Amino acid sequence: MRPVPVTTPRPPYVATGGEPKSPPRRPVLHDDATIARIQRACDVASTVLAAIERAVCEGVTTEELDAIGHDAIIGHGAYPSPLGYLGYPRSICTAVNEVICHGIPGPLRLNEGDIIGIDVSVYLDGVHGDLCKTLGVGEIDDDSVRLLDAARRALAAGIAAVAPGRSVNVIGRAIEAELAGRFGIVREFVGHEVGSDFHGALAVPHHYEPRAETRLEAGMVFTIEPMIALGSGRARLLADGWTAVTRDGSRSAQFEHTIGVTAEGCETLTSW
Ligand code: MF3
Ligand code: CO
Repeated sequence: MRPVPVTTPRPPYVATGGEPKSPPRRPVLHDDATIARIQRACDVASTVLAAIERAVCEGVTTEELDAIGHDAIIGHGAYPSPLGYLGYPRSICTAVNEVICHGIPGPLRLNEGDIIGIDVSVYLDGVHGDLCKTLGVGEIDDDSVRLLDAARRALAAGIAAVAPGRSVNVIGRAIEAELAGRFGIVREFVGHEVGSDFHGALAVPHHYEPRAETRLEAGMVFTIEPMIALGSGRARLLADGWTAVTRDGSRSAQFEHTIGVTAEGCETLTSW
């Protein structure tokens, strides 16, 4: 594990060996001051993702990208949320080609034509911020261009569906409508509430799940992070216990924002 300055406040799960305490059973409604703190964590995460993006090129390894992310995060006085979370060994997640999410940075070198998802989460001033973006390395094939475009549109459609009074399942319904059956939607991983807990009580399915009936209310903060595949979107976990890949080997892409529900609709707290 890369070192973090002793003066940098850690999320509580670092002290307990990675096990988070169970979050409150109902979604938290944050006051404006807390939303402002989450906004600052999201700003740091967004800035760090932009720095990593500038380093993505043919020949770079995913652990070099992790080092850049780690140094940028601690440079802002923040803690990399994944580091030590349930034993996760790195500071960011990287997802190359058929990797859906939670890929562990390592010696893998990027090639021209690859796609790579970069997921950055930070803990600052007692709260988390979380975002992800998928990039092409140099020139990518037409299917990959279509996939990245679809994943971006899926996130936008999910965000546009958010409004107080609606059920959380409107998000997955909007994503399904946007993709019109042309791509697979990964069901095994969902968006999640964000706040003082990295993963809070509220789960946000990216497919239409009628039982997800929690009503959205102003003050809720959560991620929407649809994982879209060229194939079926069925997932399988590698032996490292973290890396999720598509069962059919097809490429997968993901874009993620942290959003806050407002009286009028929602605000997007992260940016890329
Ligand atoms: N944004 C990712 C998520 O919420 C970050 C995962 S960190 C890990 O799922 F440690 F859980 F991998
Ligand atoms: Co997330």
